[in-house]
Amino acid sequence: TTVAPTNITWHEGHVSREERAQLLKQKGLTIWFTGLSASGKSTVASALEQHLLHRGINAYRLDGDNVRFGLNKNLGFSPEDRTENIRRVAEVSKLFADSSAIAITSFISPYRSDRESARKLHSEAGLPFVEVFADVPVSVAESRDPKGLYKKARAGEIREFTGISAPYEAPENPEIHIRTDQKTIAEAVEQIVSFLSKNEYI
Ligand code: PPS
Repeated sequence: TTVAPTNITWHEGHVSREERAQLLKQKGLTIWFTGLSASGKSTVASALEQHLLHRGINAYRLDGDNVRFGLNKNLGFSPEDRTENIRRVAEVSKLFADSSAIAITSFISPYRSDRESARKLHSEAGLPFVEVFADVPVSVAESRDPKGLYKKARAGEIREFTGISAPYEAPENPEIHIRTDQKTIAEAVEQIVSFLSKNEYI
């Protein structure tokens, strides 16, 4: 449940978004990865971040495992906690995008409605939101199993594991759809970068 804030007033700064973009020579946006555990979203997100930084573009990655060590350390993997996880990440990525940075988020974000809320938060603020679906069949993710989590989930040692005992709602209309098991990391990065260039985001 959300409680409406009282006795607080929005404070406008001296620098508009447009002026900030001119001064920093860069426009902000959020690139939102979604996909199963071991779908390659963090790998591609890291490579994309590296590519953009090497071109002098300020990009910063927010990653599920990492954010759960800090900001979201009080959250687990129940449906409610995942929704709250994604709500907070959507708000943080919006702040990064507003600051003229490229926020790259890499969370399973299994619920379509949560991703739609993240998208709406950005569109209402006039900030671009690019959804990237890191798509692999569960069987492929399970065969990779870099952290041994699928094995544990099958053994019943982890409950509510995405793709095994908890849902993953695949995007119906993502801006970018990558079959990560059929492309190299470099090709995946190129696919995203060419989308960004074509749309004049970079
Ligand atoms: S979510 O669904 O968006 O809130 O998840 P996220 O914040 O991205 O965290 C996913 C990482 O947490 C580990 N992990 C689990 N994932 C799914 N289900 C369960 N039950 C679970 N428990 C722990 C796992 O390492 C995920 O990392 P990735 O990078 O996706 O493999």
